[in-house]
Amino acid sequence: MTVPGVSFRRLNIDHTGLYRALMLRAYSEHETAYISSFEERAGRPLEWWQRRLADPTCVTLGAFDAADALIGTARIELYQRRRERHKVDLASLYVMKDHTGQGIGRRLMDEALVEARKLPGVELMLLVVVGENLPALRLFSRLGFVEYGREPKAVKHVDRYFDKGLFWRPVSADYVGPA
Ligand SMILES: CC(C)(COP(=O)(O)OP(=O)(O)OC[C@H]1O[C@@H](n2cnc3c(N)ncnc32)[C@H](O)[C@@H]1OP(=O)(O)O)[C@@H](O)C(=O)NCCC(=O)NCCS
Repeated sequence: MTVPGVSFRRLNIDHTGLYRALMLRAYSEHETAYISSFEERAGRPLEWWQRRLADPTCVTLGAFDAADALIGTARIELYQRRRERHKVDLASLYVMKDHTGQGIGRRLMDEALVEARKLPGVELMLLVVVGENLPALRLFSRLGFVEYGREPKAVKHVDRYFDKGLFWRPVSADYVGPA
């Protein structure tokens, strides 16, 4: 699916400043959608963000508008242990508020699955949804992700607890998902 005026490409170390600014915006706009907080990530030095984008076991994708501003992102992270290298985590999915509802999140997820298929031996994509994040739950369900477990009270934000919903799907393009 194409999104008019929006292009999708991999981010690299040259995007560090843009990526850091976008993710800090994500954490502050959606303070319960992620496990990491704005304060935690704002305290990381620039080198930490550079390492994140340079990590050869991860792929970070960017969505750019017609003026080439970074407006969305998604990231896959390969499991490191030998017996888990058939899996990737999907992390840090975000579309800027002004650009939601146009298919950008869906396209970032499609691209993340394409990138996962390119990694030798990768079969499964896993992800976590914090609390009742309905836009995210609906998006993942439309892509065939299935909930395989729930961690109660997994995230504590001030005095509120949120469950973690654990989801997975095969990365194969042939996968059609549950009926
Ligand atoms: C979740 C998010 C990435 C969706 O991005 P988006 O660009 O708006 O998504 P799309 O326009 O591609 O929509 C794809 C599907 O997501 C679901 N969706 C998106 N926004 C929704 C909303 N407000 N309410 C319900 N479902 C929604 C729908 O199923 C939609 O498909 P459909 O319209 O064909 O039913 C975006 O809302 C976001 O960044 N949210 C804040 C951060 C976040 O929650 N990240 C995920 C952490 S797990």
